[in-house]
Amino acid sequence: MTKEYSPFTPGIPVPVEFFVGRNAEVKKLLASVKKSKELKTLERIFVTGERGIGKSSLCKFAIRLAEKDENVLGLHVFLGGVTTMEEMIRKIFERLLNDSIDRPWFDSIKSYLGNRVKQVGMFGITVEFDASNKELKKAVGDFVPALMNLIKHLKKQKSTILLVLDDLNGLANKEHFANWLKSIVDEIGSLREPLPLILVLVGLPDRRNQLVTLQPSLDRVFDIIKINRFDEDETIRFYKNAFAKVGVKVTEDAHNILWRFSGGHPVFMHEIGDTVFQVDKDNVIDEEDAVNGIWLAADIIGNKYIEPNVLSAIKSKKYREILNKIAKGPLGYLFSRKDAVDRLSSEEIKVFDNFIQRMKKLNVIQSATERGHGYYEFTSELYYLFFWMQARAK
Ligand SMILES: Nc1ncnc2c1ncn2[C@@H]1O[C@H](COP(=O)(O)OP(=O)(O)O)[C@@H](O)[C@H]1O
Ligand SMILES: [Mg+2]
Repeated sequence: MTKEYSPFTPGIPVPVEFFVGRNAEVKKLLASVKKSKELKTLERIFVTGERGIGKSSLCKFAIRLAEKDENVLGLHVFLGGVTTMEEMIRKIFERLLNDSIDRPWFDSIKSYLGNRVKQVGMFGITVEFDASNKELKKAVGDFVPALMNLIKHLKKQKSTILLVLDDLNGLANKEHFANWLKSIVDEIGSLREPLPLILVLVGLPDRRNQLVTLQPSLDRVFDIIKINRFDEDETIRFYKNAFAKVGVKVTEDAHNILWRFSGGHPVFMHEIGDTVFQVDKDNVIDEEDAVNGIWLAADIIGNKYIEPNVLSAIKSKKYREILNKIAKGPLGYLFSRKDAVDRLSSEEIKVFDNFIQRMKKLNVIQSATERGHGYYEFTSELYYLFFWMQARAK
């Protein structure tokens, strides 16, 4: 690879060769796959963590390994925006079709889905699952027999299905979906023949809570894999690996800066990587390149993530003013309640505790527990940097 192309992919699940870390999580997923395959069991996992933390990437990576090492049929279904069960079923079958298109078992899949397969696209490289709403409705209720049937059709090629239902946002608050999940788990449990299936749900922590509220018995049904931010070691490995792929070196000082400002947020790591890559001219990332790249990244991140996710959620003018005052410096991104309060008006002090709660909810500020009671910090230095830039621009 030459330096022409940035190895960073902000916002999309990471290509397998750039995937780093998550050893324990990958291991856990693969252990479930092995167990399901060997003992022919149903395994249930809920992958959770904040937006952009790497849930989809983890699943993508695990599917790739499971397909390679365990020869399972992996289906990664993105349900963002899907709010009905029928649409969900359609997406699942469509994924099955399109993922199989250049595989040896495509004919088995086609015969399994019968005349509902419609070739679309000029070169026949995409296919559609052309089922009526009535058929889809029926398929919702018949999901378990349908999977059973699928396994039978694939008998020669695949014995186990790894089904990842990603981005459950639009379904997690639907009673129908919660009950359906419960019923398929029960149904598989009472089958006479075993159905080797690993069912992986992916969603924000709130989505899991919603599901469990709607159907409390789901609480015990799923093992949880919680994904957290990367630590320093993983962040450095990520940058080393990505830059090495395009023949670029990174100095130790630059590594420190990259780690500090990305705060182990995968999304920020990619955005910063991208801008640092752009500003570097000599294939060595030094301190200056890192700093210049971070300035650019703060702006991009502000517009892309902070503006829509945080600023639009902060309706209160007072809250915004407090944020600006805190970020104005010389307070660092770590600050004590006392220091913050010292620079606020009496009106602002009155709402300070509510402000902190709100910021914690939005994942902008967290308690700095290691510093003791009454200390807070921005969850990422980039957040701090962004608000600091905003305050300065005034
Ligand atoms: N293990 C990883 N290694 C490298 N980059 C990652 C990793 N996990 C996530 N990313 C990157 O972080 C960003 C968000 O990842 P994604 O999987 O889409 O998160 P989520 O599904 O939790 O919203 C993407 O740009 C992705 O490429
Ligand atoms: Mg995702």
